[in-house]
Amino acid sequence: MDFQQSLTKHNLARSFAAECQEGARYQFMAKAAQQEGYQYMSALVRTLAHNEMAHAQLIFQKISEYGGDNVQNIDIKAGYPFRSAPLVDLLKFEAENERMSGESIYPSFADTARDEGYKDVADMFDKISMVEKSHRATLSKLHEMLKKNTLYKCKTGTHAFKCDNCGTVVEGKSAPKTCPLCNMEQGYFRIDFDIN
Ligand SMILES: [Fe+2]
Ligand SMILES: [Fe+2]
Repeated sequence: MDFQQSLTKHNLARSFAAECQEGARYQFMAKAAQQEGYQYMSALVRTLAHNEMAHAQLIFQKISEYGGDNVQNIDIKAGYPFRSAPLVDLLKFEAENERMSGESIYPSFADTARDEGYKDVADMFDKISMVEKSHRATLSKLHEMLKKNTLYKCKTGTHAFKCDNCGTVVEGKSAPKTCPLCNMEQGYFRIDFDIN
């Protein structure tokens, strides 16, 4: 199918806008986490922001590849998530957005691209959907741990907590309030998703 007439062109443009906005929202969230003293969580969320911008670039490249000079403006009609809330609620909100992207939106965009003969675009959407699913898992876990106040706690026995600033490892039931070597606050300790 001709790219200009395709739904895939529209879906690529929608996805590009969505990825840019996710990248921006994750940067805002990373800043909020840092301001609340969750330094390691902030770094994790910054990585998510970086991932989204990488997705945006891949999608942009597909539009350029197929549209060339013929595409200079694409009108899109789509809804995008907006929410201003405390960090704990934002984590849940974004996890749900990622769930929809990974389980529903990208798979349907991939199907359309495949139907329209853009196999490479379909493959890209499929691969991005896998990443969004893993983002959802990360955000859900962070939400759960923050809500239950278990970010730095080990429920069973002890755990080797590692300071992400200086690398010191402290064995215990919970991460120390400050690092015994570099004195950085608890928020610098790595959040281990398996310490439940
Ligand atoms: Fe993405
Ligand atoms: Fe994502």
